[in-house]
Amino acid sequence: MNTPQQLIRPEILDLSAYHVQPAAGYVKLDAMENPFGLPDALRAELGALAGNAPLNRYPDAGAAALKQRLREALDLPAQCDLLLGNGSDEIIQIVALALARPGACLLALEPSFVMYRMIATFCGMRYVGVPLNADFTLDRAALLDAVRREQPALVFIAYPNNPTGNLFARDDLLELLAVAPGVVVMDEAYHAFAQDSFMGELARHPNLLVMRTLSKLGLAGLRLGFMAAAPEWIGQFDKLRLPYNINVLTQLLAGQVLRDVDVLNAQASLLRIERARLAGALAALGGVEVFPSSTNFILFRVAGAAGVFAALKSRNILIKCLHGAHPLLADCLRVTVGAPQENDAFMAALVASLAAAAA
Ligand SMILES: Cc1ncc(COP(=O)(O)O)c(C=O)c1O
Repeated sequence: MNTPQQLIRPEILDLSAYHVQPAAGYVKLDAMENPFGLPDALRAELGALAGNAPLNRYPDAGAAALKQRLREALDLPAQCDLLLGNGSDEIIQIVALALARPGACLLALEPSFVMYRMIATFCGMRYVGVPLNADFTLDRAALLDAVRREQPALVFIAYPNNPTGNLFARDDLLELLAVAPGVVVMDEAYHAFAQDSFMGELARHPNLLVMRTLSKLGLAGLRLGFMAAAPEWIGQFDKLRLPYNINVLTQLLAGQVLRDVDVLNAQASLLRIERARLAGALAALGGVEVFPSSTNFILFRVAGAAGVFAALKSRNILIKCLHGAHPLLADCLRVTVGAPQENDAFMAALVASLAAAAA
């Protein structure tokens, strides 16, 4: 009998699993979740729907009603088709699996969403990372050079970017679309907070795929992501989707919440106001560099970030420490914009932590 070490692909043996921090009992500002609950009347409707859901049956394999609801609620272009995923993570994996011809390259910016690199490894694609500038803007020349040199089958651009929070220059990305020999995925996970999108470009660029998720908008627990693209692409990707990947409860409950999508949109606009308040408060602290955000989180740099992260944790505040994740992220921390009282608790704990460190 061979051991796992002998049987499992070496690149998988070398991977570390995607790390999720235990969060029970903390003020949870680490994962870009919407902190607000749903209104009571809507919760009651969801309760009734869940209680009567046919859990003994497989879900609608094509999730037709949910797709229609997404189109209406999010005003998606009529000529595109939709691919649904168990979170947008699953869609990243489906697209990479489809394009993973021997030697094919997946190119992404760095630092960006870590799953691009991990999924390249899962699927046996050659990964190329192109560093951003030190201020996290796009290095246009480096990106275009890398695209010409590596001829990637697949490029992922998080627009806006995680973990840096910024939108890249739109004209540079239009140039990327013009020179890329393969497909370019605009990952618009934070669309609700950005108010800019490539969705309107789909008809003009046959190599453009636009991906979104309901996670950041307020339904992280339901796991629903989607991709909008030309039917020629979606038809191929759909072959790799495992049967029934969107479960009965997600289809029913997400469909119902989307009838009231204005509730989620109103929460997103409150979070944008809180983002401005939090960024202002952070910038007013001495020794903290705040990076511009078009998302529901803020990246900031502070000396001794790992110690500050630990001090916040000891005060019951959980954020994300990015120090060590990439050289450009030295001394960087990322805080999700929470409800007003959570943001106040975070700021109070940060002020106390910095004062204790200076004493
Ligand atoms: C840029 C980006 N894309 C995709 C995802 C995955 O989202 P989900 O799988 O919850 O849809 C995330 C999550 O943090 C993200 O930051």
